[in-house]
Amino acid sequence: MKIPFVSLAHQTGVIKMAYQSRLEELLNKSDFVMGPCLSTFEQNYASYTGVQYCVGMSNGLDALKVALRVAGVGVGDEVIVPAHTFIATWLAVSEIGAIPVPVDCQLKTRNIDETLIEQKISNKTKAIIAVHLYGLPCHMKYILDIASEHQLIVIEDNAQTQGAKYKGSMTGSFGHINATSFYPSKNLGAAGDAGAITTNVEQYYNHALLLRNYGSIRKYYHEEVGYNARMDNLQADFLDLKLPHLDTWNAERTSIANTYVKALSGIGDLTLPFTPSGYEPAFHLFVVTTKFRTKLQQYLRQGGIETLIHYPVPNHLQEAYRNLGYAKRRF
Ligand SMILES: Cc1ncc(COP(=O)(O)O)c(C=O)c1O
Repeated sequence: MKIPFVSLAHQTGVIKMAYQSRLEELLNKSDFVMGPCLSTFEQNYASYTGVQYCVGMSNGLDALKVALRVAGVGVGDEVIVPAHTFIATWLAVSEIGAIPVPVDCQLKTRNIDETLIEQKISNKTKAIIAVHLYGLPCHMKYILDIASEHQLIVIEDNAQTQGAKYKGSMTGSFGHINATSFYPSKNLGAAGDAGAITTNVEQYYNHALLLRNYGSIRKYYHEEVGYNARMDNLQADFLDLKLPHLDTWNAERTSIANTYVKALSGIGDLTLPFTPSGYEPAFHLFVVTTKFRTKLQQYLRQGGIETLIHYPVPNHLQEAYRNLGYAKRRF
């Protein structure tokens, strides 16, 4: 039996027929960009997340970039990021000319160690990006309290956590402005690249709408230097059909994860995903750590079980960040 790392065929199969008929409608109308199906998905995703506004974006990286710009982050500003995350969190900060300031993560939760944030805040700090890694929410209360004390903006990176809850509310609803990715293998995955911004602040919503569309609301009039970062209607329709299934699919992930946790606890030096009380993770990934990583990977491969290392090179040691000058094992 082969267990692939990701298999999207089941989820796609569930919505395939419905999508084919929406696709036919879309092709007949040939209405591909900024149509009513985008607004429908935006409204549905906002209400699923428990926020007032959603802006459909081209991908998660663009969503983070726009969120940062909406938050007023610019050249030379500092943004607190977790040391351990997918590199897009850092790239978004760098791409707008700001500086990512990494804070180490907790071994137990794998998320940013909230108790280490305050010591990294300087007079240049503008925002904190809270990445809910592998599906587990960050300690949002602690992070929001620090942010409010220092008048910083909180941006959730919800790319790996669609449908997760922290103290009863959905992730993506806590920060001032939040970004997510619908890359195909995410818990809510598109049929290509897509992402979104969620917020409760009307002014941020309007600004994000402007930035994703060349800095323009009125055609051919440009108030700011913006991007082309819109979500296609083809993706909006696909995501809108998948959204009603997300809770069921996440419950399946959770039940499988619970089985793994029960079966694997106490084996060797394996550390397993940890769920603090009041957290409902989305189990985007089931991540274990061990000193015998290569051997374990080989053993699982022999059994037909595919695994991946998330992530093989930490961000502070990537060639792209050599200029920041962080040493090996600094985090
Ligand atoms: C934590 C995190 N942030 C940001 C991104 C970037 O999203 P995208 O691939 O849609 O640009 C991803 C995923 O790819 C991610 O896992």
